Amino acid sequence: MLNRFTRREVQNVNVQDSVEGPDLPLYEADALELDEGLDELSGANRLLRSDLIDAKVRLHRKLIDELNLAAIDLMSKAELRHEVFKLVSDHVLAERILLNSRELDFFVDEVLDELTGLGPIEPLLKDPTVTDILINTHKRVYVERNGQLELVPVRFKDEAHVLRIVNKIVGAVGRRVDESQPMVDARLQDGSRINVAIRPVAVDGPLVSIRKFSKKPFDFERLIKIGSFADPIAALLQGAVKAKISLLVSGGTGAGKTTLLNALSSFIAETERLITIEDAAELQLQQPHVGRLETRPPSIEGKGEIRQRELLKNALRMRPDRIIVGEVRGEEAFDMLQAMTTGHEGSMATIHANSPRDALIRLEQMVGMAGLNLSEISIRSHIASAIRIVVQLERLTDGKRRLTSVSEITGMEGNIIQMQEIFKFERTGTTPDGKVLGEFRATGIRPKFIEDLTLRGIRISPNSFNPGRPL
Ligand SMILES: Nc1ncnc2c1ncn2[C@@H]1O[C@H](COP(=O)(O)OP(=O)(O)O)[C@@H](O)[C@H]1O
Ligand SMILES: [Mg+2]
Repeated sequence: MLNRFTRREVQNVNVQDSVEGPDLPLYEADALELDEGLDELSGANRLLRSDLIDAKVRLHRKLIDELNLAAIDLMSKAELRHEVFKLVSDHVLAERILLNSRELDFFVDEVLDELTGLGPIEPLLKDPTVTDILINTHKRVYVERNGQLELVPVRFKDEAHVLRIVNKIVGAVGRRVDESQPMVDARLQDGSRINVAIRPVAVDGPLVSIRKFSKKPFDFERLIKIGSFADPIAALLQGAVKAKISLLVSGGTGAGKTTLLNALSSFIAETERLITIEDAAELQLQQPHVGRLETRPPSIEGKGEIRQRELLKNALRMRPDRIIVGEVRGEEAFDMLQAMTTGHEGSMATIHANSPRDALIRLEQMVGMAGLNLSEISIRSHIASAIRIVVQLERLTDGKRRLTSVSEITGMEGNIIQMQEIFKFERTGTTPDGKVLGEFRATGIRPKFIEDLTLRGIRISPNSFNPGRPL
């Protein structure tokens, strides 16, 4: 049994050696960080003494080196526990860690969890303070906490180990990643998203990005409270959604676009029928009357793909009041604009762009992809008549996500789309510890669409547009 399971005799292994391999020079410094992170873990982990957490991290690294991981899947639970118990007790003895039998049992259970679950990243998945997990080859794992990336002392044994764990994760939703299909983007059962790229497309080995599903999506109130935007801006956006003004949320990856779209949708009347279109369903609309559509990737033979454009066309036959596009990224842009100008006002989408102007340029390019041979000016007029607001979001250098601009599209002048900024975030400086200082301000321009709001009895205080003082 032991032969199948262990590669070397435990006692012969020098613990320090196996821990501080040349691959991981940052280990000691990082151990402290991990310690802090683990302190915030769920109840069970909190029971572990801090010296134990340290020992566990070392032990886990050692076990990965020692164990024949493939054999683990073939063992019964009892067998595995028996083997791990032996290894752990030896380790505890060798490291002179003082444990009573209850503590030892608990320790063994923890180690087992990590071996049989999702391996070294299991604690990261459980840690509620971690929002993203980024595996950069088997040697490095980064996490995002509070908007900041940090390297964590978690390591995989080798590439095969990463692949094994990754296939365990994507296998649960009926997908797999291998050489013939080296890229996978999937939504997991809990709503988390995973993107995997392996060789040959990932040159140095597997790249895995996991965006953990946030159980409690930020609602509008919470976004205001944490300072993502100011009250008068919130009031205007809320009014615009109620008054069925079509809008685009623009920003970079992870800027908070989906989050804002979700929060904004809460102001749509419950009586309206919504159809959502996404590459990987992640919106969590609270309305009762929502139909969710999701694209399908092609099969291994390259067949059966269903793209956003087809979903959009289909959505139009489903009698929606509004269509919500999780992220517009290609030819479907044309159909979306079409929908927005033909009775589906108040439709919304996010777009990947660095400024409101950039968003329009990209949209124009996307419409071009539909292959309809439209002139530049007709594409632009189409955009100008379909979309009325562009909200720009940014993840600033301190990791905070903020709304940085609200702009209104007012029409065309010649062949240029006219756009005016209503609100903006003005940076005023940076604190010594890197926090971005700044304030939300009105530009002094009153949006034209205010009339639509007034017609529906939605009042916005004229003071909101006073440029004299911060909002
Ligand atoms: N205003 C915000 N403040 C803090 N965190 C946010 C904010 N908006 C979003 N987040 C978090 O940032 C991450 C990325 O948000 P998401 O909306 O998915 O970004 P995007 O759609 O732009 O890629 C999520 O974990 C989300 O919970
Ligand atoms: Mg998104």
